[in-house]
Formats: sequence, C-alpha cells, structure tokens
Amino acid sequence: MAANRKLLILPGDGIGPEVMVQVRRIVDWFDKHRAVGFDILEQPVGGAAYDLHGTPLTDEALSEAMEADAVLLGAVGGPQYDNVPRDKRPEAGLLRLRKEMDLFANLRPALVFDALVDASTLKREVVEGLDILILRELTAGVYFGEPRGIETLADGTRRAIDTQIYTESEIRRVAEVGFELARKRGNRLHSVEKANVMESGVFWREVVSTLHADDFSDVELHHMYADNCAMQLVRWPKQFDVIVTDNLFGDILSDCAAMLTGSLGMLPSASLGAEDETGRRRAMYEPVHGSAPDIAGKDMANPLATILSFAMMLRYSFGLADDAELVERAVQNALAAGCRTSDILGPGMQPVSTNQMGDAILGELDRLAT
Ligand code: IPM
Ligand code: MG
Repeated sequence: MAANRKLLILPGDGIGPEVMVQVRRIVDWFDKHRAVGFDILEQPVGGAAYDLHGTPLTDEALSEAMEADAVLLGAVGGPQYDNVPRDKRPEAGLLRLRKEMDLFANLRPALVFDALVDASTLKREVVEGLDILILRELTAGVYFGEPRGIETLADGTRRAIDTQIYTESEIRRVAEVGFELARKRGNRLHSVEKANVMESGVFWREVVSTLHADDFSDVELHHMYADNCAMQLVRWPKQFDVIVTDNLFGDILSDCAAMLTGSLGMLPSASLGAEDETGRRRAMYEPVHGSAPDIAGKDMANPLATILSFAMMLRYSFGLADDAELVERAVQNALAAGCRTSDILGPGMQPVSTNQMGDAILGELDRLAT
C-alpha cells in the first residue's frame, strides 16, 4: 500500500475554518474507503496566526508547507485587521506562501454545473455548459515588483509607487503551462495583457508569440487586451478555452469569470510550482472566494469551493483522476438533488447549512462508491 500523502491544512480566517471542517470529513472518508490515505498537519495562517503569534505566517507553518505533498488553504482576512501594518496583514501571509513556495501557475477553472445554470446573473444560453480556465501568473508582476511604497518628495508632494515587472523566464514558464493545459482541453489559448499601453504588455506578447512559434504552433493562439477580455467574458464566454494572463489582470478576470458560474462559493483553484528532478511539485489548493466575515460562524457558508479544491489536489498533486471525479460527481449529484446553500438557492428551495451540505456530499460518496 502506498505511503500516506502529507497534507498541510491552513483553515485561516472567517468562513475558512468552518468550510475546512467539511473537507476534513471528506478526507476521513477517503482514509476509510479508498486506497489513498493522508497524514494531516494543521497550522493557523492569516489573521488567526497574527492573533496567536503576531505574524500572518509562522516559520513553522512555512517550513511545513515546503515539506508537504500538498497544502489546502481556507481563506484569509477580515475587517479587524484593516489597520494592521501591511507586512503583518493576513493577505501578506498568503502572498509570502505563494512567493516562497514559488507557486507561479494559478489555475482557476470556471465551470457551470447544469443544476446551477439559473444561479448565474447571465442568460442561460450564455453560460450553459461553460468550461473555461483562467491561468494566472502568481509570483511576479505588480504584486511583488520593487520599488513600491508611499513617499514624500522634497517639495512636500506625497506619491505612491507600484512596479509591474516581468522577466522573460517568468512569462515563458507560465505561458508553457498555458499551452500544455490548452492541448489537454480545447487547444485554444488567449494570452491577455495591455500591449497598447504597457511595456510589460508588449514584452509579454513577444515572449508568448516566440514560444508559440518555437514549441506550440499546433495550439490556436489569440492575443487580447485585458479590458476587451473583461467585456468578452460577460458577452460570450464560450469563445474562451484557456486564458493566460499576469498576476493583477488574472486576479480581476478570475473574479469576473467566477461570477459567470453563479457563485464565488463554487470555484476551486490550484497553485502549482515547477516540477523538480523527481517529478514532485509544490502545490497549494484554495477556494477563489474570500473569508466572507459577514457570514462567518453562522453555518451557512458554501463549502463546495473548498471541497472542489480538494478534488483538484487529488488530480494535480496525486494523479488520482478517478478519485477527483468521484468528489466532483458527488457535488454534482447533491446539487441536482436540490441541496443548496443560500448563495446558490433556486426559486422555491430551502437553503441547507454548511454542515448539511457536508452530510449530502458524504452521502453521495457512500452511494457512488458502493
Ligand atoms: C485572490 C485574492 C488575493 C489576491 C488577496 C486575498 C491577496 O484576491 O487570491 O484572488 O489578490 O491575490
Ligand atoms: Mg482575487
């Protein structure tokens, strides 16, 4: 029997801990019923770590994350940390994890489940059957560029600076992942930047075009400006298959794509590093939604994005496509049976609690596995 996988769980803040409880129940189910087993470590991160240790990411949590086979994160942040210095904010812990683990490729699929077509604010024909993937560069660009800061000039004028920087290899490695993902899907890649106004956009376009000509000319490549992409995402999202873009545009466009599916509460993500010599890659999985402090602790949050992130982990970190599909089918069936948290409620339906959604998924897993 294969050795257990080492999984680090970082529940974080707000609704993070309560949705993670439901994932733990599913992990227990896998331990009991499937070939794969897990050894679990857990650490506070974000505001939870700041409250306990005065830092949003302890050295211990970081080193456990570096050693783990995969990391699963809930969410970070909350209004009580608004006045904490930037480097101690919950978000700083998340950004440091991404950077230190070198998780440059952030996969954010936007998939519309049949049962939820009517939960979207867009018309049925626009979103029905939608299956697109946003690939966001996650460790460079304006999120990390130096110099940055707020300063006062000699004449007393205050100003703020952020810096957008991309090296050739930073663009190339994420574009490579984009082309490879496109090959496994619809074979179409949209590369998104603002080459009409930004030097980094001109350079991005050049590097992606060269890579395409050299190694991926079999993939259909389109270049698109980021503002046009935002518009096209709500006009006719089915024109897209894979979208590759930088850190900031990816942050914005993925929220936009997420909402096509009806609720941010449905969307998982995977953040992957490069493969080392042994074929191992660092990886962190997290829901796209935030910590939703307004509904935290009320047992009403939708745990499906985190549960689907666990499914992505099975697929991308452990090559367990069948087990991933099992979880995804359980989610589909529960939704089809009318089991809905309040964020994805259909007309005439009664909402279930976070815990009841967990019950429903476990029930479906039992049914599917026997
Ligand atoms: C995301 C979030 C983060 C980001 C925040 C919490 C720092 O919005 O993962 O999309 O901007 O990357
Ligand atoms: Mg975001």
